[in-house]
Amino acid sequence: MYTTILTDLENGIFTITINRPDKLNALNKDVITELSAAIDEVYSNPEIKSAIISGAGPKAFVAGADISEFLALDANGGKELAQKGQDMVFTKIENAPKPIVAAVNGFALGGGCELAMACHFRLASENAKFGQPEVNLGLIPGYGGTQRLTQLVGKGRAMEMLMSANIIDANTALQYGLVNYVVPAEELLNKTKSILEHINSKAPLAVAGCIKAANAVFDETRNGYQTEIDAFGECFDTDDMKEGTTAFLEKRKPTFSGK
Ligand code: COA
Repeated sequence: MYTTILTDLENGIFTITINRPDKLNALNKDVITELSAAIDEVYSNPEIKSAIISGAGPKAFVAGADISEFLALDANGGKELAQKGQDMVFTKIENAPKPIVAAVNGFALGGGCELAMACHFRLASENAKFGQPEVNLGLIPGYGGTQRLTQLVGKGRAMEMLMSANIIDANTALQYGLVNYVVPAEELLNKTKSILEHINSKAPLAVAGCIKAANAVFDETRNGYQTEIDAFGECFDTDDMKEGTTAFLEKRKPTFSGK
């Protein structure tokens, strides 16, 4: 039913693949609309426990927002593009109650780097490349790049990447803390899936609470410590907390229901 992305649900892991390899998976309006719908599926489908975002082909994760859509826009059009994209996709990924991980299989530039950074964490193939080259186009990032890059790699490194348009390789991204693992391209999806299979065996509501509380660090409208206290308290009303603690005391493996 999608035309610009591919989706696959296996073992509770929903893989979303942006599928415009001839345009290096650039994010045009259709991709944003379809990604938004796919993220809605992650929220609403109880069979989905976690998700992966990746790009089709051997060359690119996503080489940015689709530059061919830019020239027709004025200031209001630009603001609307950024606002809609952030609301429909980027913020929605970040706040998802289930883990969403980026498997970065090549160029992650501009909106592609921003898409990877909106995910809860990232793995990269050895040929991955990251950057925010918007200043080459007379632009700045519009899908959260100035904020999330600074959060992830620190202000000095982010400022240099943003102002210089420099592209960094996978090992530099690892050293910067932008990605958690670098693996050969052919192992990228399997490695990502094995991490998610492990996470999927944990208590889903507790995992959701971790996402919510960790995100609160960067949300000025919320007190992170209070968010943690509230989320911690809510766990005590769940079946999974009773199952997890009872299983520990009975020296057996827990079976979580997500309730
Ligand atoms: N938007 C629209 N089209 C894009 C694109 C983007 N962000 N990135 C790549 N493409 C298209 C190219 O125009 C080309 O299309 P064509 O074959 O119809 O001419 C196709 O994808 C392949 O890209 P090409 O530039 O030929 O590949 P390359 O290997 O020579 O270079 C990059 C790869 C990533 C270095 C180069 O494509 C690039 O610089 N892309 C733009 C990156 C960018 O500035 N992103 C931020 C956007 S805000």
